[in-house]
Amino acid sequence: TLAQIGVTGLSVMGRNLARNFARNGFSVAVHNRSASKMESLIDEHGSEGTFVGCASLEDFVAALERPRKIIIMVQAGDATDAVIDALVPLVDQGDIIVDAGNAHFPDTRRREAALRDKGIHFVGTGVSGGEEGALLGPSIMPGGPAESYAALGPMLEKISAHVDGVPCCTHVGPDGAGHFVKMVHNGIEYADMQLIGEAYALLRAGLHLSPKEIGDILAEWNKGDLESYLIEITAEVLKQTDAKTGKPLVDVILDEAGQKGTGRWTVQSALDLGVPVTGIAEATFARAISSQTAQREAGRDVLASAAGDFHIGNREGFIEDVRVALYASKVVAYAQGFDQIQAASEQYGWHIDRGAMARIWRGGCIIRARFLNRITEAYERNPELPSLLVDPYFTDIVADGLSGWRRVVSQAALAGIPAPAFSSSLAYYDSLRSERLPAALIQGQRDFFGAHTYKRVDREGTFHTLWSGDRTEVEA
Ligand code: 6PG
Repeated sequence: TLAQIGVTGLSVMGRNLARNFARNGFSVAVHNRSASKMESLIDEHGSEGTFVGCASLEDFVAALERPRKIIIMVQAGDATDAVIDALVPLVDQGDIIVDAGNAHFPDTRRREAALRDKGIHFVGTGVSGGEEGALLGPSIMPGGPAESYAALGPMLEKISAHVDGVPCCTHVGPDGAGHFVKMVHNGIEYADMQLIGEAYALLRAGLHLSPKEIGDILAEWNKGDLESYLIEITAEVLKQTDAKTGKPLVDVILDEAGQKGTGRWTVQSALDLGVPVTGIAEATFARAISSQTAQREAGRDVLASAAGDFHIGNREGFIEDVRVALYASKVVAYAQGFDQIQAASEQYGWHIDRGAMARIWRGGCIIRARFLNRITEAYERNPELPSLLVDPYFTDIVADGLSGWRRVVSQAALAGIPAPAFSSSLAYYDSLRSERLPAALIQGQRDFFGAHTYKRVDREGTFHTLWSGDRTEVEA
């Protein structure tokens, strides 16, 4: 009999996805460029379900029932194109090729268009949750043609994480929509991690707490509104002691943050779409700053501080201020990320349901959190919500914590502790609140040096002041 699904590319993620399908009762054809990974998968886990080991791509394709459903799990980029090119002559019209790697969405759009011309369904799919998620239930974000979801969707939903019985998988939208949403997920992941990092830095400097004590505070926060996977694992990391030195592990890890690129893509796309994702951008730049060794070394020696003592009188009050600053900044980061999804959805005609995205992020993925229920509810109340911040639930939550947020940002500035994501999120919030922004002055400046013209608050039309003449206003 033929296998129901195939997985090619059996490094950790592919291997675990294949096992997940098998454990859920699907027969899985497995293939890897070097057969040893396929053989070891079957040796070690063959008893978990029905695997069909295939040594060649030809055998692999031949082992699948139609329409074939083939999941590619290889390195994003050239490796993906190479596998697609090798598969295309072997498959038939109506077959479904799924790219489950972290592809850049423009690549997915290109591949989908090329395969559509050949009558092959190409489904770029975000998969989040790391190794463990792939095995036990990830959050899955499939794009590609809606027809493909009829055959593929139920299988993906079965292996995905479930929250309250609801699968963390839905058809996101056509062509690159799935990979786009996964990209923004990762951008939000960067922001979330940076915000937790800033909370940690402030608690440490302000209260002279040990990493372990801060881990305990996070574990406490994890029982409330902030409950999330990232808070939970941060507490674990902070409580870890280095076996070699006996110091907290976090104190012996080099403070240079890496990235594989999805955060950078999110910011690049946001710039193209004109959507301010300041939280994600600050988080991405904070990683870049951390890795600017030459500038940091030079700066450390010569840059003045003029910082005051960071002495906090009210310990419990400060912890609560940091908590609300973290929560409010997190709301801003998500609000911005959902704005970016909406802007791309309009630009590319994807019709993405933002509430459904929050729903499939509730479980399985790296940013899974209790708070995502609130986002789903917000979009249920109003699918056209202009910003998450103006949903009554979030408006109230942020208002309640607002003075604490302001105190934390100003204390950080006075003490000379960098808190770029906290402070830029507050600036974003205040920008949305402002009756007037200095953008009016910028329009005046642009008109002065470049005759770029401006609009008026009191009349229709476009105007220019004759700055180098008699300074009267003319209609442009
Ligand atoms: C996930 C993660 C994962 C991501 C890593 C790497 O959702 O499971 O987002 O897909 O690739 O977290 O991110 P870095 O850019 O930090 O290496």
